Amino acid sequence: RPGGLVDQFGRVARDLRVSVTDRCNLRCTYCMPAEGLPWMPRAEMLSDEELLRVIGIFVRDGVTQVRLTGGEPLLRRSLVELVAGIAALEPRPKIAMTTNGVGLERVAFGLKEAGLDRVNVSLDTIDSETFTQLTRRDRLADVEAGLKAAADAGLTPVKVNAVAMRGINDQSVADVLAWCLERGYELRFIEQMPLDAQHAWDRTQMISADEIRERLSERWELTPLPAADRGSAPAERFLVDGGPETVGIIASVSSPFCAACDRTRLTADGQVRNCLFSTTETDLRGPLREGATDDELLGLVRGEMWRKRRGHGIGDPDFVQPDRPMSAIGG
Ligand code: GTP
Ligand code: 5AD
Ligand code: SF4
Repeated sequence: RPGGLVDQFGRVARDLRVSVTDRCNLRCTYCMPAEGLPWMPRAEMLSDEELLRVIGIFVRDGVTQVRLTGGEPLLRRSLVELVAGIAALEPRPKIAMTTNGVGLERVAFGLKEAGLDRVNVSLDTIDSETFTQLTRRDRLADVEAGLKAAADAGLTPVKVNAVAMRGINDQSVADVLAWCLERGYELRFIEQMPLDAQHAWDRTQMISADEIRERLSERWELTPLPAADRGSAPAERFLVDGGPETVGIIASVSSPFCAACDRTRLTADGQVRNCLFSTTETDLRGPLREGATDDELLGLVRGEMWRKRRGHGIGDPDFVQPDRPMSAIGG
């Protein structure tokens, strides 16, 4: 097995996605039930010191971007200190965060100062009633304020993620795009994946990338950006009416980008996952707490990456949804 975070198909992991908590302050119906989920016991979650040690191991083995996710990452009380700790690693990785935006207004500047480079904010609708139904919380105004604060703080480009859902926001994708264009946020629509805690996902209900594109084309002229410029980015991007604004579509299901994947993941309880859909994990927390050396931990991480499968296999007859819901894996 060669050095670096490589797999049997020659892919190299450069983007580490770290879930810093599985807790969330919204209850999106496609993600979790109204009562929430059985949250991880705090003692099982990595401390800041443990997280920084593990992230350092990844960074010294080729990871160049660290993305903080959740659950909702802003719910981790020490988030600003954690960002500062990551920014102090050598070599310093780029630091990004995927958040639902609730409470971001208050901390955007502090996060920027600590070293956060940019944010992606999840926002599926700009209609207040739909937002409240979908997230089971009346917080649209908070998210809007969070987005604005992020842009003001220079956490740019500010990206907005919208999961397309039949009967919920499929009729209003154009409204969301118009809203984002007006404010200078880069919108990406996402095909819904089988990652809900309720295991209710159904391919026939999914809004496909083609459908989203058709709907947007009723109002704007979309010109695809050259595929060669896409690299390992999950979104296929289009110029809107000739640009410079763009809109992206993340077609994880209808057009998987697994062949170019450069991701690896660390869960809040210290498990390495080689894929969003991996059905196995490698525990780092146990060895870490039993005194493993950095080299021993690195060996475990490399082993996990080497086992990465060619693709997620959604749609294959033997596909099984991971046991962990999205909120406990990290988006
Ligand atoms: P950028 O660097 O800003 O492009 O980040 P990103 O798009 O990778 O990150 P973000 O957390 O905003 O993810 C957006 C969406 O991409 C998620 O909601 C997922 O739907 C999808 N996604 C992220 N990682 C993976 C992955 O490893 N596999 C698949 N299939 N989809 C992913
Ligand atoms: N499929 C696609 N994206 C999802 N997200 C949450 N659940 C799913 C799913 N089943 C998105 C969130 C957020 C990001 C972290 O993942 O809306 O944008
Ligand atoms: Fe929270 Fe994100 Fe799940 Fe919504 S999708 S409930 S914001 S973890």
